[in-house]
Amino acid sequence: MMQRLVWLALAGALWIAPAMAQQAFTPRDESPEEFVAGAGRNETFYACTACHGFKLVAQQGMTRAQWEDSINLMIRRHGMPPLDEKDREMVLNYLETAYPPRAPAGRGGFVNPFAK
Ligand code: HEC
Repeated sequence: MMQRLVWLALAGALWIAPAMAQQAFTPRDESPEEFVAGAGRNETFYACTACHGFKLVAQQGMTRAQWEDSINLMIRRHGMPPLDEKDREMVLNYLETAYPPRAPAGRGGFVNPFAK
């Protein structure tokens, strides 16, 4: 009986150790699920997080043309590998839909919760 318990504990430790090691080596503490859902989210997430957190992307709100400029800048200035036509389209569609320009400045982004 005792031996069986020890065995189980050992097996448990062996099983948990790799899971913990993997967690310790996770390069980013972000995952695609944290961001606005939509077609192309995972592709966009992994294309951009090769270099920086996706929060840097998600905190922007831009038009499609501005997103396009932004990606071109990543390619030109930061050495991002160019996306092929299909991926580029998917990434742009996602960014345009998920992170459009915010309400114009002046309205201040403040929404009165009582106004209806
Ligand atoms: C090859 C590396 C690389 C890749 C891939 C990359 N970026 Fe960047 N990006 C950078 C660097 C370097 C900066 C500037 C340093 C910083 O602010 O962290 C930056 C900054 C930015 C900024 C902030 C610009 C500003 O004006 O503050 C945005 C927005 C951005 N990237 C969007 C993207 C998007 C969208 C993708 C994916 C489609 C992407 N990046 C992929 C390297 C990259």
